[in-house]
Amino acid sequence: MDERGRLHRRFAARLEVNPLLTRQLVSFQASKSAPFYRWLKYKEAFSPDLVEYLYDQLAATIQPRHVLDPFAGTGTALTRACARGWQATGIELMPVGAAALRARLLADEVSAREFERELDLLRRSEWENGKFHFPHLRITERAFSPETEAALAGYMDRLPGIHDEAVRFLFWFAAMSVLEDVSFTRKDGQYLRWDQRSGRPLAQKFDKGFIPKFRDAVLQRLREFSQDLTRRNGGHFARQARVMEGSCLLEMARLEDASFDCVLTSPPYCNRYDYTRTYALELAFCGCDETRIRELRQTLLSATVENKSKRAALAAHYRSLKAERRFDRVCAAYDGQRGLHEVLCHLNRAREAGELSNGHVVNMVENYFFEMALVVFEIARVLKPGGRVFIVNDNVRYHGEEVPADLILSDFAESAGLRVDRVWVLPRGKGNSSQQMGRWGRVELRKCVYCWSKP
Ligand SMILES: C[S@@+](CC[C@H](N)C(=O)[O-])C[C@H]1O[C@@H](n2cnc3c(N)ncnc32)[C@H](O)[C@@H]1O
Repeated sequence: MDERGRLHRRFAARLEVNPLLTRQLVSFQASKSAPFYRWLKYKEAFSPDLVEYLYDQLAATIQPRHVLDPFAGTGTALTRACARGWQATGIELMPVGAAALRARLLADEVSAREFERELDLLRRSEWENGKFHFPHLRITERAFSPETEAALAGYMDRLPGIHDEAVRFLFWFAAMSVLEDVSFTRKDGQYLRWDQRSGRPLAQKFDKGFIPKFRDAVLQRLREFSQDLTRRNGGHFARQARVMEGSCLLEMARLEDASFDCVLTSPPYCNRYDYTRTYALELAFCGCDETRIRELRQTLLSATVENKSKRAALAAHYRSLKAERRFDRVCAAYDGQRGLHEVLCHLNRAREAGELSNGHVVNMVENYFFEMALVVFEIARVLKPGGRVFIVNDNVRYHGEEVPADLILSDFAESAGLRVDRVWVLPRGKGNSSQQMGRWGRVELRKCVYCWSKP
């Protein structure tokens, strides 16, 4: 039996298919019409229903007071915790997620009357031209028609005239949230697809269909905001939630020991998905230039072939905090994870034989699991005894080699002193990429929710 087989045998009794975890419940699909959660199409976001389901499980066994999400994204785990009266801390690196999170927190306290007044003024005025220039990146050039850019400029020029800061921010956020709709792009699986009307040279013709006018799209979005503001939670969110904008790989090291009752999170998957490409329009709008984008890509959890190792920088960070021993424990768990090193060994051989379409996949897998080992050890440290962990993540496969992230990370969890209670497996897994399917056949990969606790 190989190492992954042994790992599987060790955890087999704890792998449980949970029929309630349907794709509908787990994916963003369910958020498309949910008040507040429909404000930004962030496909990686938790559905609020999934979070509610997991919090119900949690509340049945402990009385949680403080929840942490180190990969907070748009903050679904945080806002649902606040709605139950719990404290919540989130760490998020991408300005897009952080802005969505800020919008949701502000929505709970902004003056609905002031919002409505500004919306009414906007509706009754002309704003088809302005001085604002969309701060394009190379990969966003030609994303909008000249008419769309002109309407966006007129809208942006009006924003400084909005006195209430929270209302002004929500109006700014509304523009960000419709950028994809009014552009010649579409976020499609792992990629940003380009419509042929953009005039960009494209390998394949693609027409995304009807593109609304900016004015119609943004007014429609603001109307949705206005409707949702009538269904608020009582203005406590901003006091209950703490948001740290930065990398959890650095920030978690500074959190106090045993300070959280629950960690609910979903890290990026080890699947080559590049958030900085998919969200290029929104990041440019947030003011990220080419240098900042490159920096962001390197700071995000390594999940693309462009990522370089952060190990030396993280070692220095832990040294500066006089926490070398914590870092050494992570290195030992990572170096001793045989299932992972078996995969790396196979992939290295394939790379040497020139069989990998991109040899950097090997470094990506190494970096991903090293960084995730660090996150798992920090989760174990900051959790209170009796605390619970839920992590949503997918397994992946490269060159026919399954990378059982659920088992590898659960092994790290045990090394860090956590108990692996169960790994819930979604009834429907994930197929191969078409490239892999041709060569290796279709075997589903597990999509999971890991359920761990601290004894
Ligand atoms: C799968 S998404 C989580 C979405 C979130 N559950 C929600 O409801 O919106 C993963 C998130 O991790 C963030 N991320 C990636 N690397 C990070 C890092 N080093 N520190 C903090 N956040 C990071 C990404 O920007 C992304 O928003």
